[in-house]
Amino acid sequence: MQLYKNKVVLITGAASGIGKTVALTYAQQGANLVIWDRDDEGLADTQKQIQQTGSTALSLKIDLTNPDEIVTGIKTAAEKFGRVDILINNAGLGKSASVYDLSVDDWDYVINTNLRGTFLCSREAARIMKMNNGGFIINIASTRALMSEPDTEAYAASKGGILALTHALAISLGPDHIMVNAISPGWIQTGDYSNLSRTDHQQHPAGRVGKTDDIARACLYLTNPENDFITGTNLVIDGGMTRKMIYAE
Ligand code: NAI
Repeated sequence: MQLYKNKVVLITGAASGIGKTVALTYAQQGANLVIWDRDDEGLADTQKQIQQTGSTALSLKIDLTNPDEIVTGIKTAAEKFGRVDILINNAGLGKSASVYDLSVDDWDYVINTNLRGTFLCSREAARIMKMNNGGFIINIASTRALMSEPDTEAYAASKGGILALTHALAISLGPDHIMVNAISPGWIQTGDYSNLSRTDHQQHPAGRVGKTDDIARACLYLTNPENDFITGTNLVIDGGMTRKMIYAE
């Protein structure tokens, strides 16, 4: 059964990694895709693979740090398909730097991509969803919203902001029948899975490192039309790592 047939799904950061797998997963479910990224070569490959499933993809080169491009991109998507049913705010990046050296420019770049970009995409997509009896928004956060390694201030703050933005949007957009949830991935291997070591896998309570499919299946769950009683939540998908207590030996 193709649960998402004729639904329009917009995914940011769809040129690679998690976003690419999520896009292909919805395509296999019969959805029409709107795929965004600043990497147009990667986007072209995602688009080709979507078309091989028989689904349609509108591919737009968009830099999320540019608010005008986001506004125009949503209008273009709505003009082509007449609706946007699901938005997956997936694009994101970090800049690792000592807290003493992190520049204002680098801070702004990470926050503007991850957090402001998520807000602007949600605001613009919600305008369209509201006219079509609602929709679903998923914000890809990170377990780094909850815990940290050193030198990751901007990334951690952006992802923590995304969790707060998620519950704020869930409350504001509930009356418009728009469900807003976050997914916080742990270690999701986007490169060669076979390169991982036994230690990499076994440190996880679940016994393995995550795969991009783990996140794609969670997206399907949170956007299943029947799951319209789930909003404002944060689904942690990390093989149990954030639940593991660690003491020095
Ligand atoms: P990735 O680097 O493979 O994909 C991210 C995509 O976002 C890239 O295609 C990139 O070009 C795009 N992008 C970055 N900045 C952009 C901008 N300003 N405008 C438009 N596109 C932009 O990364 P991955 O691993 O697939 O991550 C996807 C999301 O999942 C990110 O938000 C990341 O923070 C989050 N995440 C990933 C984890 C992992 O272990 N892979 C763990 C926790 C969170």
